[in-house]
Amino acid sequence: MPFPESRPRRLRKSEAIRRLVRETLITPDDFIWPLFVEPGEGVNRPIASMPGQFRRSPDTAAQAATDAWNVGVPAVILFGVPNHKDALGTRAYAPDGVIPQAIKAIRNAVPEMLVITDVCLCEYTDHGHCGVVDKGDVLNDDTLELLAKEALAHVKAGAQMVAPSDMMDGRVGFIRDALDEEGYEHVPIMAYAVKYASAFYGPFRDAAESAPAFGDRRTYQMDPANANEAAREALLDEEEGADILMVKPAGPYLDIVRMVREQTDLPLAAYQVSGEFAMAHAAAERGWIDLERVMLESLLGIKRAGADMILTYFAPEAAKALAR
Ligand code: PBG
Repeated sequence: MPFPESRPRRLRKSEAIRRLVRETLITPDDFIWPLFVEPGEGVNRPIASMPGQFRRSPDTAAQAATDAWNVGVPAVILFGVPNHKDALGTRAYAPDGVIPQAIKAIRNAVPEMLVITDVCLCEYTDHGHCGVVDKGDVLNDDTLELLAKEALAHVKAGAQMVAPSDMMDGRVGFIRDALDEEGYEHVPIMAYAVKYASAFYGPFRDAAESAPAFGDRRTYQMDPANANEAAREALLDEEEGADILMVKPAGPYLDIVRMVREQTDLPLAAYQVSGEFAMAHAAAERGWIDLERVMLESLLGIKRAGADMILTYFAPEAAKALAR
């Protein structure tokens, strides 16, 4: 029925009726908070391009995780910044590395919280690439061994989920086998299944000091122009045994979030990355946008597109805003 019989504005007349017809809700249950951890004690180093985010030591990370848990955030994902980098990213799979220490500290402080770890080498290699480099090439199959060692080191320290973000072919199945062989068949894998070679990672690379020393990541991360390839990547990771699929970045790739949602029955995560966070803050600092409203609207958009959970630096702030 066209106008004047149809008047969609009837259902927008009051907040009460808007509440009744609202289709999508975000809650703190949707959020995973990324934390950067470096060695030491009592460290709280502000990250210039990510206001309100810090590089923390295991003890202060445990405090931050506790605070996030107390406002309703169910999970954190940990990124390590080691004090020593080398060609093979040795500190990524050291049992006494900064991530195993942080896992133990957080699990001890807040045992109910889910501790996920990012599994990648770029924060640990001196060349900043996500794998073993030979003559300028990132070697796929050699890298798998190191990623499996890293995942195992995290799980042995108490990580309850691992999230490989390197984009090597076959790493989900390889890590799955490695975990199963050691008796960790119950630990789920959240695969960065569809990860684009994105300029939106800029602030993260400052925070983690993980910018590649030469070249870029376009031989392993996806071309932003490709959607069919995203469907293939998601399917491959599902076949290799991923428990949760992820699309990253989130905001500029909502079409991909929707497409993967329609293709799979697995839970779907989307990563609102550092650049998305930094841009909202920068515009708000200039008084050009309302930060709280843009934060909640951007998260709502990601959920509406089909994400079941969102990795976001806003997690504690959004949880607090939702409780108001
Ligand atoms: C590690 C990794 C990156 C991000 C998550 N895991 C950086 C990259 O691929 O360069 C980016 C997250 C963000 O920008 O918030 N490979």
